[in-house]
Amino acid sequence: MSSDNDLREKVLQSNRYVHSFLVGIDEYQKSPHFRPENQQKVRSIICKLTQQLKTKQRMIDFGCGTGFVINLAHDLYEEVIGVDITKEMMNKVDLSPGNIELVESLAEDTPFPDNHFDLATAYSFMDHLFDYKTFLLEVFRVLKPGGVFYSDLNPNREFMVAMENAASQTPQQTFSTQIHREIKGALHNGEFYQSQFGMDAAELEQAEPGKTLDKGFLAAEVMQTAKDIGFSSCKVEFEWFVNQGEWIHQKSDGQYQLIEEYLSSMRPLSDQLYKYLRFVMTK
Ligand SMILES: C[S@@+](CC[C@H](N)C(=O)[O-])C[C@H]1O[C@@H](n2cnc3c(N)ncnc32)[C@H](O)[C@@H]1O
Repeated sequence: MSSDNDLREKVLQSNRYVHSFLVGIDEYQKSPHFRPENQQKVRSIICKLTQQLKTKQRMIDFGCGTGFVINLAHDLYEEVIGVDITKEMMNKVDLSPGNIELVESLAEDTPFPDNHFDLATAYSFMDHLFDYKTFLLEVFRVLKPGGVFYSDLNPNREFMVAMENAASQTPQQTFSTQIHREIKGALHNGEFYQSQFGMDAAELEQAEPGKTLDKGFLAAEVMQTAKDIGFSSCKVEFEWFVNQGEWIHQKSDGQYQLIEEYLSSMRPLSDQLYKYLRFVMTK
């Protein structure tokens, strides 16, 4: 039990180290999810979810970082709360809209009352937790009945395992450049940040236990956990197919959409080709 607590504490420390490091060298905001087309996509998802809510009083963004979600959603709610543990990230949040409050707190244990928020969000966040189940319990507690939780950019275990299998079973020289890049991103992200920016690779690995230890999230397992906690529904979408960025930026729109339609028609066989999972849970 105490070794669990030690590990939990190390994960928190590594998160503070990694995020203050990245924001300190102005690298964090260059993460791929800040690209305009992704911001547009996330904004449209949040708008759709918001339309379905009875009231639009309060939203909470867990692991708000520099305010990626807050920037895209603050005009849709009366009050917006951002929760994080890394001050250096929170210092970058644009508070000028006037309805945003930041709270330095563990996402798994917040100071808010039960049944308080209409919408809860967590973007590029759950893989940074030692135990995402404790976090989901907290999300459930603070959401109003009928409230919605939107969690995005969660590494897909089926993709991670496929990358591991490819890396261990196939002679590497036979891989295309794209597959090399995907394997590096999935399995050797720490090494990349260390060689590029001098960040300690082991710290990055420890900051993402949902990716490095658990090898990502299994859609069916998360859905079962949500059900056990009491969410009335949990929907999952598979997103960002392998090499999608290149298709979006370098090929025509038609080609990219054709691939998306084809892969989607091949599910569940194509599940392992998607890097991330998006969950929408309703209390
Ligand atoms: C990858 S960043 C995502 C930030 C933002 N959501 C985004 O999409 O740009 C993960 C954030 O989670 C924060 N974090 C990690 N563990 C946390 C915890 N247990 N409670 C609250 N925040 C945490 C980190 O400090 C960091 O700012």
